[in-house]
Amino acid sequence: MAVSIYSSLLLLFLTNTVWTRTVRQAYDVTDPEDWPYFTFECPKECFCPPGFPNALYCDNKGLKEIPAIPARIWYLYLQNNFIETISEKPFVNATYLRWINLNKNKITNKGIENGALSKLKRLLYLFLEDNELEEVPAPLPTSLEQLRLARNNISRIPEGVFSNLENLTLLDLHHNMLLDSALQSDTFQGLSSLMQLNIAKNSLKKMPLSLPANTMQLFLDNNSIEVIPENYFNAIPKVTFLRLNYNKLSDDGIPPNVFNVSSILDLQLSYNQLTKIPPISAQLEHLHLDHNRIQNVSGTQICPASISIEDYVPYNDFPRLRYLRLDGNDIQPPIPLDIMICFRLLQAIVI
Ligand SMILES: *[C@@H]1O[C@H](CO)[C@@H](O)[C@H](O)[C@H]1NC(C)=O
Ligand SMILES: *[C@@H]1O[C@H](CO)[C@@H](O)[C@H](O)[C@H]1NC(C)=O
Ligand SMILES: *[C@@H]1O[C@H](CO)[C@@H](O)[C@H](O)[C@H]1NC(C)=O
Ligand SMILES: *[C@@H]1O[C@H](CO)[C@@H](O)[C@H](O)[C@H]1NC(C)=O
Ligand SMILES: *[C@@H]1O[C@H](CO)[C@@H](O)[C@H](O)[C@H]1NC(C)=O
Ligand SMILES: *[C@@H]1O[C@H](CO)[C@@H](O)[C@H](O)[C@H]1NC(C)=O
Repeated sequence: MAVSIYSSLLLLFLTNTVWTRTVRQAYDVTDPEDWPYFTFECPKECFCPPGFPNALYCDNKGLKEIPAIPARIWYLYLQNNFIETISEKPFVNATYLRWINLNKNKITNKGIENGALSKLKRLLYLFLEDNELEEVPAPLPTSLEQLRLARNNISRIPEGVFSNLENLTLLDLHHNMLLDSALQSDTFQGLSSLMQLNIAKNSLKKMPLSLPANTMQLFLDNNSIEVIPENYFNAIPKVTFLRLNYNKLSDDGIPPNVFNVSSILDLQLSYNQLTKIPPISAQLEHLHLDHNRIQNVSGTQICPASISIEDYVPYNDFPRLRYLRLDGNDIQPPIPLDIMICFRLLQAIVI
């Protein structure tokens, strides 16, 4: 797990580096005729780093309005201000914008001029965390890759708002006020590139329907989910990280084998009401089952392979579990020996 975190960080780093280089080349080489058009003016409220002319830092400046954004800007930092509105005017020249960080402001849906966002044809990242939105803003630029809307007051998702965001990989809606009724069966349709969906800390009682088939990370912690529909994960065959901590799952709400899915490497079910360990696949690496109502655990029951200490088991056939949390249940130590015989790669177990 540690290894996979590092490798995804590394991947992220590499993609960012490669991407930055490509766009810089595009800027330096492909558009030389644009050079006279770019001035190096800097809005007086902001900081323009001399070595990084594509970036504009206007964060933490007590701003109430977005200043006029110069044409050369790709990366725009406006977080931690008192901005209430997003209108078209300051962006008319900023046709190269890639990233906008507007976290921690006072933006409401009424404050967003219709079309102001969708006119930003090259925008990849839009961060609007910690604002005062009550619905997902629409329309959005179809070029978006990341949309972060955590910690608003969002209870509504306008029809079709995501339907043409074909490049969106990350959608973060955690800590809002979404009820099941806000999610229609076609809400996430069209998000064909989506890999990470975070709807933690809302008020869902049911699992969201019709998730995009490429979803790898699904975070649903801190809702009130009671039931997982049978074969739910068949529709998202790449799901790898699944977090359902702090819900209301009991044994009855979990169909047999629903988590016995080989794509899942990290399964978090802490703070639920389970009395039994659900069947898992041999590929699972991390299992969090702390703070449930489990009274006993036996390797013969939960081992996803046959266990016998005499049998020769090739290394590649060992169940992959490395980390197991069972604390906060009613399990008395010691850890049964058959757990250790089954999960030979186990590095830590917390009881
Ligand atoms: C856009 O660019 C034009 C020409 O350089 C300039 O006159 C105008 O003030 C700019 N508008 C904004 C909002 O930056
Ligand atoms: C969110 O909504 C609640 C009640 O609907 C309100 O009390 C609260 O001030 C709102 N928060 C923000 C940040 O708008
Ligand atoms: C999505 O990304 C691809 C590849 O970068 C690009 O060619 C395409 O235009 C993008 N789609 C939109 C709607 O921007
Ligand atoms: C869920 O709620 C618990 C307890 O209130 C809190 O400690 C935890 O950070 C929350 N997790 C998320 C992802 O919101
Ligand atoms: C889990 O699934 C595998 C194959 O998909 C199957 O062989 C195994 O019996 C299942 N585990 C349980 C406990 O049913
Ligand atoms: C495990 O606990 C359950 C009650 O939760 C009990 O019915 C069962 O007999 C126990 N099994 C073992 C092997 O102790």
